[in-house]
Amino acid sequence: MQSPEFLSVYAGNVEDALVEMLDARKSVVPTRLLDAMRYSLLAGGKRIRPALLLECYAACGGKRPETAMPAALAIECIHTYSLIHDDLPCMDDDDLRRGNPTCHKQFDEATAVLAADALQTLAFELLAGAELDAALRCKLICKLAIAAGCQGMVGGQMLDMQSDNSDDDMDILVVERIHLHKTGALLSWCCEAGAMLADADQTQLNACSRYGRAVGLLFQIADDILDVTASSSALGKSAGKDMAQNKATYVSVLGLQRAREIAGEMQELAVDACRPLGKQAGHLQALVHYIQERGK
Ligand code: IPE
Ligand code: IPE
Ligand code: MG
Ligand code: MG
Ligand code: MG
Repeated sequence: MQSPEFLSVYAGNVEDALVEMLDARKSVVPTRLLDAMRYSLLAGGKRIRPALLLECYAACGGKRPETAMPAALAIECIHTYSLIHDDLPCMDDDDLRRGNPTCHKQFDEATAVLAADALQTLAFELLAGAELDAALRCKLICKLAIAAGCQGMVGGQMLDMQSDNSDDDMDILVVERIHLHKTGALLSWCCEAGAMLADADQTQLNACSRYGRAVGLLFQIADDILDVTASSSALGKSAGKDMAQNKATYVSVLGLQRAREIAGEMQELAVDACRPLGKQAGHLQALVHYIQERGK
């Protein structure tokens, strides 16, 4: 499935802003470190997380997307850091990412670790420096720290690593827990942050929060499915890795057919969740379909 037009527009805007933000640090960051950060950050991701944030912002009535941009850049920095670490030899040991050699292949392991560390802290620098009401800024930072850290993405990555080559029969609830943490937490943050930045009311906040949870799980189930159904050249990352590494995924535990059915159920939940947002949620619904039907 082609990515929706508005997603390409967001991706272009986000990439321009990322370039500007990196260029502004040229004189104060060691060249090799900045080169590695730039290499991974600008390698051409789908930019779904910024799109979710900016669309939740718009669907909750936000009218000044530039105020949400630092948060959109911050989440892309955190996401890219998570990918660099995910690809390291001590984790998934991948050579290909976003259609290019992984950061540690292009540079070296130490540079990749440091570039990812730098992107993580840069995310918090961007949020802390955003021109926002101080209480809101603090809340966003706190929620991002929780979503990205040991109670969120990093915690999920730990569970994922422990599930590697585990001899135990995996329970699907364990896989759900892994996915909600390693992937869902950051996507949920995007949706809630978009609503909070738009000063959403409780109904809108609840809608974005429910939407984010469903989309977060759907996103990783779709990733599990793509790992067995798509080619490395289509994905821009190595296909067939999950089975080769005996990962706990929806496909490995339930089979492809059932994984697709559950993705369908998650899609319905996500579409239903954004109903209270009314007509303004059209793009959020389109994003759900794209997340499920995407080819990479
Ligand atoms: C890949 O995320 C990692 C997962 C959480 C499955 P994306 O599929 O969003 O990767 P990019 O940003 O488009 O490269
Ligand atoms: C990674 O999940 C989730 C992250 C936190 C980066 P995967 O290991 O399945 O992601 P890919 O398939 O390498 O992109
Ligand atoms: Mg992984
Ligand atoms: Mg991986
Ligand atoms: Mg994967």
